Amino acid sequence: MKADLLIRGISQLVTAEGAGPKRGRQMRELKIVENAAIAITQAQITWVGKEQNWDGATSTTMDAGHRAVVPGLVDPHTHAVWAGDRLADFEARSSGATYESILAAGGGIRSTVRATADASVEQLTALARCRISRLVRSGATVIEVKSGYGFTPDAELRMLEVIRALAAAAPARIVPTLLIHIPPTRAEERKDYLEEVCQQLLPEVARRKLATAVDIFVEKEAWCATEAKSVLVAAQQHGLAIKMHTEQFHSIGGLELGIQMGALSVDHLEACRPQQFDALAAGDTVATILPGVSLHLGIPAAPGRELIEAGVAIAVGTDLNPGSSPLFSAATALALAVRLNGLTPQEALVAGTANAAAALGLENAGRIAVGQPADFLVLEGSDWRELIYTLGANPVREVWIRGQMVTA
Ligand code: NIG
Ligand code: FE
Repeated sequence: MKADLLIRGISQLVTAEGAGPKRGRQMRELKIVENAAIAITQAQITWVGKEQNWDGATSTTMDAGHRAVVPGLVDPHTHAVWAGDRLADFEARSSGATYESILAAGGGIRSTVRATADASVEQLTALARCRISRLVRSGATVIEVKSGYGFTPDAELRMLEVIRALAAAAPARIVPTLLIHIPPTRAEERKDYLEEVCQQLLPEVARRKLATAVDIFVEKEAWCATEAKSVLVAAQQHGLAIKMHTEQFHSIGGLELGIQMGALSVDHLEACRPQQFDALAAGDTVATILPGVSLHLGIPAAPGRELIEAGVAIAVGTDLNPGSSPLFSAATALALAVRLNGLTPQEALVAGTANAAAALGLENAGRIAVGQPADFLVLEGSDWRELIYTLGANPVREVWIRGQMVTA
């Protein structure tokens, strides 16, 4: 075999195996190859094995210096495009105000919507590009980015155009999602807004391929399950996948709706109850948990351990956003999932790679295997568990995307 590039000197090569999400006990089954090498040709992995078994030819050889290699991380949930900040909310919450009370009083997400409307497309793109770079440096090679800080269909389209510009320039693969985040403040305008979303926004988003999925926030301060259903049905009619922000503070029917409609993922689940675990385990929907939110808002952590025991496929994301999770590291999200949600390091790695890819409907991400894109990380240490163990320093030495080392 002839390869463009051989990476040798890998102390441990660690990856989930086989296509599709891993559920329950499968989430602990990692393939670990010691003293390994990877061969790459035209941005794809063409050979993986013990270095001593490589007998091909290669144009270039790189030495990983006895360091561990894992798949590029997949961050399946971010709101990386916003303007303004939420520092006043942060301070107010430190003195007892709650996230929901700030939102109900017209602040929180609504203040970010106003600041985002006041920024130009160029400003928004520059701000988001910097955040994406930080996520890439933390190990993310595929990053989902949502709209959702628009109050009108036009404002959402503008956000999706920013995301398209980011995707064209970012080293990472960007997966765009249309998020229908919060309703108009006046109750009588909710119905009209949803009609505009279904009749104008969704068809245009689908026609211009500005998003691959539609997400909606089901919560007391946001949309009810019936309203969400009308949007998700329309999204599916236009060939878009669906996902949801649900059971963050209250359980008001979002999770059941997501499972019933075949959502790619249901995200948050801090308020998920044991009676809901079996339905989630029975379907194909991935449960995406977001430990940065529990840390930053001080709300209960999603029951990650219990969900895995029940046979659910779990993914982990940063939920990078200014209000509930200013978490700029995909690696730290996994580190927090062990500390806050009870995952093992093995489960956290699968949750941040193969399962996070499944939460985005991707089969060509999150694994090191022949035929996959050459997206992987060379860690600082020789033991892969340092990726999940390390707090406050970057355990990722090199980020490789499509066979190229990225300098983000
Ligand atoms: O995933 N809860 C809803 N939406 C986001 C937060 C957005 C914000 O606070 O700006 C979330 O937590
Ligand atoms: Fe979110």
